[in-house]
Amino acid sequence: MGYDYDRLYRDEAEALGAPTRALLDAFAAYLTAPARVLDLGCGQGRDALPLARMGHTVVGVDLSPKGIADMVAAAEAEGLAVTGHVADITAFVPEGRFDALLFDRTLHMLDAADRHAVLARLIGHLDPGGVLLIADEASNMAGFRGVLDASGQAWDRLTDRHGNLFARRS
Ligand SMILES: C[S@@+](CC[C@H](N)C(=O)[O-])C[C@H]1O[C@@H](n2cnc3c(N)ncnc32)[C@H](O)[C@@H]1O
Repeated sequence: MGYDYDRLYRDEAEALGAPTRALLDAFAAYLTAPARVLDLGCGQGRDALPLARMGHTVVGVDLSPKGIADMVAAAEAEGLAVTGHVADITAFVPEGRFDALLFDRTLHMLDAADRHAVLARLIGHLDPGGVLLIADEASNMAGFRGVLDASGQAWDRLTDRHGNLFARRS
């Protein structure tokens, strides 16, 4: 891990603050039925917890044991459908398939080759009609578009601006 998020999470509850308006709007617009969501690099559950409060079932994965512990504790306190895995997303193999994949400012933590390989592999776990939600550095978006174009799957671009790339698998 380049930046020590585990240390940050030990120092601060809700270290990354509230979810972004762009993602909250996307959750409301694109996840209109109870969905299985895979949150890659979920941190302390900034997105996973609101998603679960909306009625979705969330699997969160992060390198940080403290992030996962905070997320799971908050979910248990509220009785939310969130499970957490301490794992490296470059190697993590999820069980089953999902209606949404979320990478909220996680992919820029990886070098370009890993970033693209992780995205290419994990979109294989998205069901047809499922939604891919990426928030990241704007400079990384061309690479992500390239991964989607090379995936052999058809994508409906929902949003592609200001460091947000949201697409639905046809
Ligand atoms: C900028 S934070 C974003 C956290 C969360 N998505 C949010 O928006 O609050 C990046 C997160 O990615 C996690 N991370 C970085 N590299 C990772 C990897 N290889 N596997 C799993 N998680 C990773 C970090 O531990 C950190 O929690």
